[in-house]
Amino acid sequence: MQKTISPARCVQGSLLLPGDKSISHRYAILASIAEGDSRLHNFSTGADCQSTLNAMRALGVEIEKENNDVTVRGRGLDSLREPSAMLDAGNSGSTIRMLSGILAAQPFNSEIGGDESLSRRPMGRIMEPLATMGARVEARDGRYPPLTIHGTPNIQPLDYTLPVPSAQVKTCVLFAGCYAHGETIVREAIRSRDHSEIALREFGADISVSRRVIRLQGRAKLTGREMFVPSDLSSAAFFLVAALILPGSELQLRGVGLNPTRSTLLDFLVSTGADIRILKVEEVNGELVGEIAVRHSIVQGGVIDEETTAALIDEIPVLAVLGARSENGITIRDAGELRIKETDRIETVVENFRRMGVHVDEFEDGMHIPGKQTFRPAAFDSFGDHRIAMAFAVAALAAGGESQLDNAEAASVSFPEFYGLLDEARMS
Ligand code: S3P
Repeated sequence: MQKTISPARCVQGSLLLPGDKSISHRYAILASIAEGDSRLHNFSTGADCQSTLNAMRALGVEIEKENNDVTVRGRGLDSLREPSAMLDAGNSGSTIRMLSGILAAQPFNSEIGGDESLSRRPMGRIMEPLATMGARVEARDGRYPPLTIHGTPNIQPLDYTLPVPSAQVKTCVLFAGCYAHGETIVREAIRSRDHSEIALREFGADISVSRRVIRLQGRAKLTGREMFVPSDLSSAAFFLVAALILPGSELQLRGVGLNPTRSTLLDFLVSTGADIRILKVEEVNGELVGEIAVRHSIVQGGVIDEETTAALIDEIPVLAVLGARSENGITIRDAGELRIKETDRIETVVENFRRMGVHVDEFEDGMHIPGKQTFRPAAFDSFGDHRIAMAFAVAALAAGGESQLDNAEAASVSFPEFYGLLDEARMS
């Protein structure tokens, strides 16, 4: 689908964004292996999380969905049944990597694959720990989907130091560890999002976290319950940047997840001069939730590297757009992981910048975007990547005329309501 995006004078209003993608995946999977029914409110509307729900259904779990509320009728750790066909993770790296941890501990074999983009994403990072736990995983060319997972009911606990800062890999090991007798330990050098640790505790697992060492006691006893999914801060990022770059903008984003392992985004924006205030913070199911108020601001720009890069990895495409409008530009380093996301996000950001006449220096592990640049209207392409679609839809708002965005529908992977909400907020 091609979308025409005309420039906006500013964005205004009070918005309620859909449920967090990362948290929704975890709740759907854990509710499926818990005992008893769970009600998951404000579940992500994105296609990725529907892939997780459909995969759980294919494993025999009864799941009902009414608007954004999902009822999962969990029947315990050992209730899953052998799927009759290959499980389809669609575009979702989270689905394939997290669910593989569960599949590794089943008394049956399963296959899981996805679309063309997912089929290019590396799986060695989960195959290696799962093999040490006793499950054999076969992959195309030794490391790409589809995967054939030879599950074992005799899965072993593991003491694992993450070689890459990846919450998906951490989750995969912890989910397999739920089935192992004994203590599974995951050690992280760089902190990654901790939604799995929080969700496991909420569903009743015996789990402790101290100085980046996570200890989970297996076999975990999980109990179904009622959970509320906060709105997705990574989706909010597109509206935050739109408000920051368009003079006269003022937005309130309600009920947004503010987990400290995700809110480095807000710390970075404030540190660079953004007028952002956090109101009404509360804790819901172990997650912080609050309202964000943002106003147009002159931002200075800065450097994103090391741990900050890991904490902001999903927001980098839209922060690159902000960088081009900042006073001094933004430099992004230590971001090699961007090259193995839904697209090579360094390449796809650089290509779209080139099309709009924005100067950017590309590095193997990042990029430098000088500040104070003018945006020309352009023919953008999402290249099938949801975050590239939304980042350049935001850039198009600040261009001097109408832009076209090819493959705009990719946004629905995480945020189907994106264009509608953007139209609601824009003032022309
Ligand atoms: C996610 C972890 C990150 C992130 C992805 C969601 C998660 O991936 O980029 O969008 O929900 O755990 P990695 O684990 O590959 O860093």
